[in-house]
Amino acid sequence: MPETANAPQPSRTLAARLGLRHPILQAPMAGVSNPRLAAAVTEAGGLGALGIGANTADEAREAIAELRTRTSGPFALNVFCHRPAIRDSAREAAWIETLAPEFAALSAPAPTALREIYTSFLVDPEQQSLLLEARPPVASFHFGLPDPEYLAALRRAGVFTIASVTSAAEASLAEAAGVDALVAQGVEAGGHRGVFDPDGADPRLGVDALVAALVPATELPVIAAGGIMSGDDIHRVLALGAAAAQLGTAFVASPESSADQDYRTTLRTAGAGATELTTAISGRPARGVTNRLIELGRAAGSARPADYPLAYDAGKQLHAAARALGDGRSYAAHWAGTGVHRARELPAGELVELLARELADAAAEGGAPAAEKLGEHPDVTGRWGSREDRDPHLELAADGALTGSDGCNRLMGRWMRLPNGVAFERVAATRMICPGTDTWLAGLASGKLQDGRLIVFDAAGNRIGELPSLD
Ligand SMILES: Cc1cc2nc3c(=O)[nH]c(=O)nc-3n(C[C@H](O)[C@H](O)[C@H](O)COP(=O)(O)O)c2cc1C
Repeated sequence: MPETANAPQPSRTLAARLGLRHPILQAPMAGVSNPRLAAAVTEAGGLGALGIGANTADEAREAIAELRTRTSGPFALNVFCHRPAIRDSAREAAWIETLAPEFAALSAPAPTALREIYTSFLVDPEQQSLLLEARPPVASFHFGLPDPEYLAALRRAGVFTIASVTSAAEASLAEAAGVDALVAQGVEAGGHRGVFDPDGADPRLGVDALVAALVPATELPVIAAGGIMSGDDIHRVLALGAAAAQLGTAFVASPESSADQDYRTTLRTAGAGATELTTAISGRPARGVTNRLIELGRAAGSARPADYPLAYDAGKQLHAAARALGDGRSYAAHWAGTGVHRARELPAGELVELLARELADAAAEGGAPAAEKLGEHPDVTGRWGSREDRDPHLELAADGALTGSDGCNRLMGRWMRLPNGVAFERVAATRMICPGTDTWLAGLASGKLQDGRLIVFDAAGNRIGELPSLD
């Protein structure tokens, strides 16, 4: 397959730097990625990756050695840089108590204490030395950042570094620490959100809004992740200025992945809207296909899950007990993004080639995409919605300011032009008055212009309403 044709400049630069034929990265996926999957992606011209955040150093060494026998091309290794678990015996006991009836129904003993099943890379000198010794072409970090001295040591060793970020604030921290590129992980993404502080505010930006916010604000290449399943999707994020796309869920369905049969059945049968964000499985927000454990976590009166990864210890025990009785889905960590219903079960190399062909077709149809900048499209500026200040409306100013109301909250934020609409970012809602109206605009993430109306979508791509133009 030739290089992706017509690809815009940032993607050509990143692909050239990493030795890729296509601006396509396979997401590192702890428990699901493996040397076979990563090698197939790399051999097809993308970037294969191993998620070693949940592995012991010996397991990781073995997987890296196997990957190197399967390909001489570039690959990434990924580790977890989370804050070590905050122990809180009352919180842990309450979570065990919440799960106790589930264990009892499975005739399995509930745990008496929870273990920290993964050591954070931040406090694991063995993993730190392993990564430096392995000198992978690319190292990537989830949930936070190693310290700048360590990043500098990796750079001296010739390793290209990437950090997952979910907000502009995290992107600034990553850039200041000295990483080489950012993964902009939208709320659509399967698996754990890479939020640095799981107890902090999370604006839950969709991938388009996040990419559109980061591209003008950073010098670093931005790699888009979240709900990207096709070459058209990749074309869309490149048009926003992304340098590449990182796909996870799309590759879980590949036969090379380590997903078991139950996971594959879950993916095959999941419809649109089958996933949700939950902290019930591991203690950190993550998106998976809704199951009994996730429902339990959001049930009224349910205790707050123990801190990550303590809750994961309980979740894994519950899953093992149910699986032993033939139920491999009710308590499983079947991580998947909002695009799960569009997953195609293809060998990973074929999937990369198909994505590249689709991307080339989309680029040929639409011309080489170019990122568009704030305020260059005065046609979108103006007032959308009611003339009454307390009715739903949005005002999009030429300088990128967004103001308005959803009938209940006063909204303030920023907007950016998309090829066929607008992305909203940093929209904050302040309670104003609630005259019995819906609060439907508070979760707005993007908008599409159609026949003089602004159709508004939430971060998961659900249509939440529409506003007529008043100009
Ligand atoms: C099964 C699964 C496991 C994941 N594990 C990791 C991981 O170990 N490290 C990481 O940085 N991201 C992980 N992610 C998140 C991905 O890096 C990426 O952000 C996400 O897959 C993109 O969204 P998508 O699944 O809709 O393509 C995982 C995602 C999935 C689906």
